[in-house]
Amino acid sequence: MNCLKKKDEFYTVRGYEMINAEKKLLTSGMEDYLEMIYRICTKEGYARINQLAEKLNVRPSSATKTVQRLNKLGMVDYQRYGIIQLTKEGKRIGRFLLKRHNIIEEFLKNIGIENTRLKDTEMIEHSISLNALQKIYILNQFLLNNPDIIRRFESFKIEFYEDMDYLDFPFYPY
Ligand code: CO
Repeated sequence: MNCLKKKDEFYTVRGYEMINAEKKLLTSGMEDYLEMIYRICTKEGYARINQLAEKLNVRPSSATKTVQRLNKLGMVDYQRYGIIQLTKEGKRIGRFLLKRHNIIEEFLKNIGIENTRLKDTEMIEHSISLNALQKIYILNQFLLNNPDIIRRFESFKIEFYEDMDYLDFPFYPY
């Protein structure tokens, strides 16, 4: 994207993705892989392609391709038929990705999202700004230290649903 991003200008999702892509080293897909490799490696020390493919619900051939790309970027050490291990840089970024995931998931839990929590987390995590993530982290800490706020929010929700304004409440119109 060769036009400069001005403040408060609207873009389509694709437009924002293109702006982000300029700064982004990893695609969303690669982030999912690195996050999962980090999860497995912190537990078991290393990961294997089949195990990774199973956890991410992808074919082993796709997993191999992405792991090879991460290998080229210096995030993992991977030899064919071998095991996957994180490099120092891979660990550093993997730790951030898992932290980001957990912050968003905890936030969604705090506001009472259950059934769609994992899916929503996966959709939000790749596109959220660092600034918004940091503020959500602080909000999570605040709620952790003030459990009465969560309880008040829960009873507010119950009352809210009882006499909510159906015209104002968001519903999909299509
Ligand atoms: Co995730």
